[in-house]
Amino acid sequence: MDNNKRKELKVSAIRNGTVIDHIPSEKSFQVIRILNLELSDNPIYFGTAFESKKYGKKGIIKISNKYFKEEEISKIAMVAPTATLIEITDYEVTKKEKVNLPEYVEKIVKCFNPKCVTNIEGIKTKFKVIEDHKGEMKLACHYCEKTMKKENIEFF
Ligand code: CTP
Ligand code: ZN
Repeated sequence: MDNNKRKELKVSAIRNGTVIDHIPSEKSFQVIRILNLELSDNPIYFGTAFESKKYGKKGIIKISNKYFKEEEISKIAMVAPTATLIEITDYEVTKKEKVNLPEYVEKIVKCFNPKCVTNIEGIKTKFKVIEDHKGEMKLACHYCEKTMKKENIEFF
């Protein structure tokens, strides 16, 4: 056997669906959770702590027959900003792009301030996506103006 081939990572190709590649390894299970993939009826391949030249260790998820909506892609971008989304149609790569954060995040994230009107009156949430001086993503609530760090983000 050819030596290069033996070292190559082999995960089955999918016919139709989406591949989420380059997930930071430690975020792999969180990505599964936020997308509710535990409930999926479609075949899923999942790998974590794979070697990657660019990212050290990475996770990869392949979901057959599923294409993600804008909202789901925003969730992935918040948890795994380095992720690449690859759409597969009839075994061919038809789209490949880095996930990107929207300017505003609506509805999908809870405000961590218990006194925020969105928590008291059940108003749908809205946050501006900002970056602090260290380049870390933060969410600024449109209603109470509190700023949330990544660790405090909770999805509905
Ligand atoms: N893929 C898949 N099923 C297919 C085609 C591709 O699961 N029918 C997966 C590959 O395993 C890979 C990703 O989609 O993880 C991107 O495919 P491709 O662009 O062909 O691979 P590479 O050129 O190796 O991509 P990269 O260099 O971005 O890792
Ligand atoms: Zn708020």
